[in-house]
Amino acid sequence: MFQVIAARQLSDAVFEMTVDAPAVARKAAAGQFFILRADEHGERVPFTFSDWSADEGWIRFVFMRVGVTTHKLSHMAAGDSLADLAGPLGNATVVGGLGRVAVVGGGVGAAVAYPVARAMCAAGDRVTVILGARTAGLLILREEFEALPLEGLVIVTDDGSEGVKGLVTHPLKETCEQRAVDHVMAIGPAIMMKFCAATTREYGVPTTVSLNPIMVDGTGMCGACRVTVGGQTKFGCVDGPDFDGHLVDFEELMSRQRVYVDDERSADAEYSRGCSCRV
Ligand SMILES: Cc1cc2nc3c(=O)[nH]c(=O)nc-3n(C[C@H](O)[C@H](O)[C@H](O)COP(=O)(O)OP(=O)(O)OC[C@H]3O[C@@H](n4cnc5c(N)ncnc54)[C@H](O)[C@@H]3O)c2cc1C
Ligand code: FES
Repeated sequence: MFQVIAARQLSDAVFEMTVDAPAVARKAAAGQFFILRADEHGERVPFTFSDWSADEGWIRFVFMRVGVTTHKLSHMAAGDSLADLAGPLGNATVVGGLGRVAVVGGGVGAAVAYPVARAMCAAGDRVTVILGARTAGLLILREEFEALPLEGLVIVTDDGSEGVKGLVTHPLKETCEQRAVDHVMAIGPAIMMKFCAATTREYGVPTTVSLNPIMVDGTGMCGACRVTVGGQTKFGCVDGPDFDGHLVDFEELMSRQRVYVDDERSADAEYSRGCSCRV
């Protein structure tokens, strides 16, 4: 059992949880993820580390409530326990020697972008963060990003309620046009990563994306997370989650992400009917 040390709500559907997991915290690195089960009947679901302390033995993650497991997690509080938690899994993001990097974090992807931007700053890269959300209320971890030694922080909202109005690809395109970037790291919904990669391809700027295919075992055994990169089959869990964004088949990724959508919707509806919170 893994005890929840702290839990808080960051925005309407986004939550943060800190869990006591000393053995996992000792080995965690930016860009890696873990798989948890909320309870002993629960499914295995992957989440990326948003923070951790090797000394104090905790890991932290940020999640969006989208279905049954994340609904269950959103009701957990300090003192509750997760049935199990396995990690770190996947490869750490490559940092250092990248020069001027634009880290793009969209939606809950901002939580994954945070430790990556922090590790890049610590490794001597010159980092500008482009932080995007649909609306101001969905922007997360702004203060944490502001505390990093960044070259710049650009806030973008679809509806213009905070920062620049529009999509993250607009400031990204400007940065590319000004030849002010050597590498781009895009983390967020598949559609956002697809358009970030399309934007940077035009300017020949190397672009890494952090993919989130459906995962089951997280160890390269089940094949659930297969993605096509440069015409080759790769497993998101052991070959990734980071890949060259210019080579990823995003249409296939998005279509595979939708495979269980009907089952997920009916499971969520049933769970929500029985839940007193009425989300
Ligand atoms: C490497 C990796 C890191 C991730 N990190 C984060 C994170 O830090 N924060 C966050 O909010 N989300 C993250 N996700 C997505 C997260 O795993 C899903 O939101 C979660 O599994 C949804 O479960 P559910 O039961 O609440 O929803 P469901 O109703 O079961 O599913 C809702 C949607 O979540 C996705 N999903 C469902 N099951 C899985 C699964 N086993 N593996 C991957 N995706 C699934 C599908 O796209 C699905 O349509 C990550 C996914 C991957 C692969
Ligand atoms: S999740 Fe099973 S092979 Fe990657």
